[in-house]
Amino acid sequence: MPPTDNVMEKLVSLAKRRGFVFQSSEIYGGLGSVWDYGPLGVELKKNIKERWWRSMVHEREDIEGLDAAILMHPKVWEASGHVAGFTDPLVDCKHCKNRFRADDPRIKGTPGEPTAQCPVCGSKGTLTAPRMFNLMFKTFMGPVEEAAAIVYLRPETAQGIYVNYQNVLQSARQKIPFGIAQIGKAFRNEITPGNFIFRTREFEQMEMQFFVKPGTDLEWFEFWREERMKWLAGLGIRPEKLRWHQHAKDELAHYAKDAYDIQYEFPFGWQEFEGIHNRTNFDLSRHQEFSGKKLEYLDPATNERFVPYVVETSAGADRTALVAMIDAYNEEDVEGDKRVVMRFHPALAPLKAAVFPLVNKDGMPELARRIFDDLRKSYNAFYDDGGSIGRRYRRQDEAGTPFGITIDGQSTQDGTVTVRDRDSLKQERVAADRLAGYVADKLKG
Ligand code: GAP
Repeated sequence: MPPTDNVMEKLVSLAKRRGFVFQSSEIYGGLGSVWDYGPLGVELKKNIKERWWRSMVHEREDIEGLDAAILMHPKVWEASGHVAGFTDPLVDCKHCKNRFRADDPRIKGTPGEPTAQCPVCGSKGTLTAPRMFNLMFKTFMGPVEEAAAIVYLRPETAQGIYVNYQNVLQSARQKIPFGIAQIGKAFRNEITPGNFIFRTREFEQMEMQFFVKPGTDLEWFEFWREERMKWLAGLGIRPEKLRWHQHAKDELAHYAKDAYDIQYEFPFGWQEFEGIHNRTNFDLSRHQEFSGKKLEYLDPATNERFVPYVVETSAGADRTALVAMIDAYNEEDVEGDKRVVMRFHPALAPLKAAVFPLVNKDGMPELARRIFDDLRKSYNAFYDDGGSIGRRYRRQDEAGTPFGITIDGQSTQDGTVTVRDRDSLKQERVAADRLAGYVADKLKG
């Protein structure tokens, strides 16, 4: 059963206890809204990214991969509209120095007016009128801290794709329609970050820009909406927890003609974790204008020239990891005992199998080690010989490991082992030499 109370608290605690996610720089008191992925978390996020990459790049002939640098020419961000438009209206408290978004629901009254009250220190009349604040992180390139050398940490990976669009088109000998996919870090100086890894200042995006002929953009937009929902269904995310949200005119980003979010029902409400955007030819046209380089496409079939339209699918790897964790989290009563189990889709599970010698004698550890060494050639597996078998099972339930393999007295006699299924708790005896194939079949199914 998915729990109904304190889900985020329980998840954050499990994430730390089991090594999914730690607070950044914890021994120094942490750094606001920056998180580190531990041994299990890094596997989970890597599995999400790999599955995305496979479906976008490896399984399609019309999408190419790219890994562009985080630092880009500062003009990129003028052209993209981020210098002028990537801003939030913010309010400062002159008394306690805290800063809020102007639409922070905790603010009582209108900021800037004498009656408005600070939600943190409670002072009246100390809130400034809203001011626009750019969300991009700035840093200095080169040895001299001067304005000419200011560069930004990218706030989205998409721009690295646009500026490389012709390089990829030509080097990969693609024709429109085609896409470019990229996974990488992005940075935003978010003012109201929070909810664990939901909104952070450093995060990873999995973005794909699909370049199409103007006029075909609506069809491709629908195509990619469908594809992305299918991909999520393939990860086993509960469908009743997913829904579409179309952006109203006043929600649309500066580059978008139409946009749909895929929302998940988080414990803190329905929120976006992926967006499908019709970016028209906004970005390429602006780069053409700012760089002075032609970014038109010559259609070899019709001899027409045009600046392609772009349909973008933009997912957060961290938010998808949070969705996967929340969706997987279950609490159950098993024979009067409470167990916490992460029911990850096997493809996402950080560990695919754990190997347990029932006791550390009578040839069991030797056989268990051999089986473990064999399995880990193909899968991320774990060896655990500490504590009672029940406790070892529980630890793997919390890690979300689909299979627990126990080597007992019978194993050393007849070469069979028991395989415990994480979800059904059923145990089956399987010949040790058939184990790799057995696990492979189950992981596929
Ligand atoms: N290129 C388009 C773009 O960046 P976005 O809606 O601003 O669009 C896309 O971001 C996705 O990136 C979001 O759906 C979310 O999953 C992720 N994302 C954005 N800001 C984030 C943040 N501060 N922390 C974690 N993930 C974030």
